[in-house]
Amino acid sequence: MEDTLAFVPTMGALHVGHMALIDEAKKNADKVAASIFVNPTQFNDKRDLARYPRQENEDARKLEEAGCDLLWAPAVGDIYPEGFSTSVHVSGIADRWEGEHRPGHFNGVATVVAKLFMMMRPTVAIFGEKDFQQLAVIRRMTADLSIPVAIIGVPTVRERDGLAMSSRNALLSQPERERAPDLYRHLSELADSITSGAPVMPAIDGTISDLERSGFGPVDYVAYVDSETLEPMDRFRKGGRLVAAAFLGHVRLIDNLPV
Ligand code: PAJ
Repeated sequence: MEDTLAFVPTMGALHVGHMALIDEAKKNADKVAASIFVNPTQFNDKRDLARYPRQENEDARKLEEAGCDLLWAPAVGDIYPEGFSTSVHVSGIADRWEGEHRPGHFNGVATVVAKLFMMMRPTVAIFGEKDFQQLAVIRRMTADLSIPVAIIGVPTVRERDGLAMSSRNALLSQPERERAPDLYRHLSELADSITSGAPVMPAIDGTISDLERSGFGPVDYVAYVDSETLEPMDRFRKGGRLVAAAFLGHVRLIDNLPV
């Protein structure tokens, strides 16, 4: 029997959240491979791409320590050779929330993930719930295109104060970093309200005001959605999820919670 392979695609600047994916990968296959590729086509904001943190030597060391068997760091030309013309669009799921605020973002993600899958041919692939909509888009794409890869999601790893770990957190100033956990705190309060039967829309409006009072703005969206389709829901139902995105200074933070 051939070895099974678990694949963890990343854009580098690895933190403890990424390492949780490597740990999950090890439980699910004989061998683990990670990729580091800062995918230019998923950055709708070119300044975001320019300042995306890069630390490949440190990343390679962390992966080796974590027991990752292979690191693949392709060049842009390896993934998008001259003449590359294909784009994968997952309609519906990818058009809402992040899709609305970051036009083209999920086309870039779906296309690169499909390509990475074809080049790596893993048995399973591991993604974080931190990017909850991305996980839903990838599940949909993999099912729709019958790509023979099992998709596994891993719960969000947080700092002790609740802030979801993210490579972009390093871009926050000290005062912003201190306020950043308020996103998680306000979402947790909202989850409690919805669970206890509060009307969803007014509760969401309250959370947006709370975030603005905590110094966030603009708040791109706060929504209560179906976990699979990402369609908005107006009352508490099993399988619901809160998703949110808001700027703190010039850094855009996203988070989500099961309800
Ligand atoms: P990147 O942001 O580097 O994230 C790589 C993987 O790590 C994603 O699956 C993401 O959800 C997961 N991750 C990030 N922070 C996490 C946390 N705090 N807890 C758990 N998992 C976390 O997501 C991408 O790269 C790209 O879009 C990619 C899928 C590689 C395609 O380019």
